[in-house]
Amino acid sequence: MNTPTQQTLNSTDTPPGTAEETASPAASVRDLNVSFGAVHVLKNINMMVPSGTVVGLVGESGSGKSTLGKTLVGINKPSSGQVLIDGKDCTKIHGKHRQQMRRKVQYIPQDPYSSLSPRRTTGQTLAEALDPHGANPRKHREAITHALEQVKLDPAAADKYPHEFSGGQRQRIAIARALILQPKLVIADEITSALDVSVQADIITLLQNMRGTIDSAMLFISHNLAVVQQVCDQIIVMNHGRIVEHGPINAVYNNPQHPYTQKLLASVPGSPTFTLD
Ligand SMILES: Nc1ncnc2c1ncn2[C@@H]1O[C@H](COP(=O)(O)OP(=O)(O)OP(=O)(O)O)[C@@H](O)[C@H]1O
Ligand SMILES: [Mg+2]
Repeated sequence: MNTPTQQTLNSTDTPPGTAEETASPAASVRDLNVSFGAVHVLKNINMMVPSGTVVGLVGESGSGKSTLGKTLVGINKPSSGQVLIDGKDCTKIHGKHRQQMRRKVQYIPQDPYSSLSPRRTTGQTLAEALDPHGANPRKHREAITHALEQVKLDPAAADKYPHEFSGGQRQRIAIARALILQPKLVIADEITSALDVSVQADIITLLQNMRGTIDSAMLFISHNLAVVQQVCDQIIVMNHGRIVEHGPINAVYNNPQHPYTQKLLASVPGSPTFTLD
């Protein structure tokens, strides 16, 4: 697989996500526009997440990061353009096939308190992810135990309810719920920002340790540029609904090309070792 080289983008540049760059990206987006009524939020987005990699998505609040993540998972509809998951254009698939397709992309939300049903045990939550129509934890015991092990939770967690867990443990359950479907792509949208700093570090360590054991690619949306550098292979920088720069993580951090990226990285205390001239 070729790694895209670092570049800044304007409307005439080669897009960062084209089929030539890798045999089978987990997800790719071509000429994507998303509007809410008269508000044009995503503007001509071209990007991809190569299989098995972690791609960071950064940019200031309101730049469109969650909108892009939610478009990949099918929550938002494109106004125009293509969203390809595992090589297939989601906008052209309907009915049962669309549901199957949707299982290939899983979204982990920010808040581990509101994202788990208080009336379901962890086992029921995980069984429901596998089998929305007939959730039966006993039938899926093996898969549930495996998913809990992946996020370093005791298998006994399957019989407990959300209120019995800490915020960090709940976020592990949310991660397990995404991984149990063995998706091609996981969208992690600010998954550590609601947690205490020490718990954030645990989750980051968990994600790093999982790298070798899961096949899913990840789009890691975060405001924390230091964490992005720890976790991600590549980075995409968004500003006002456009991608302004993308590339391998260290290349962009050490030598940001776009003035917006330079400004963003300069605002990280004690972080990257470059100087602005
Ligand atoms: N469902 C929606 N309806 C209308 N406008 C929306 C909707 N979702 C997002 N927007 C608008 O799109 C813009 C981008 O929002 P988005 O949530 O994608 O930003 P973000 O980069 O994720 O920000 P943050 O870092 O604060 O999470 C904002 O102006 C927001 O108000
Ligand atoms: Mg957001």
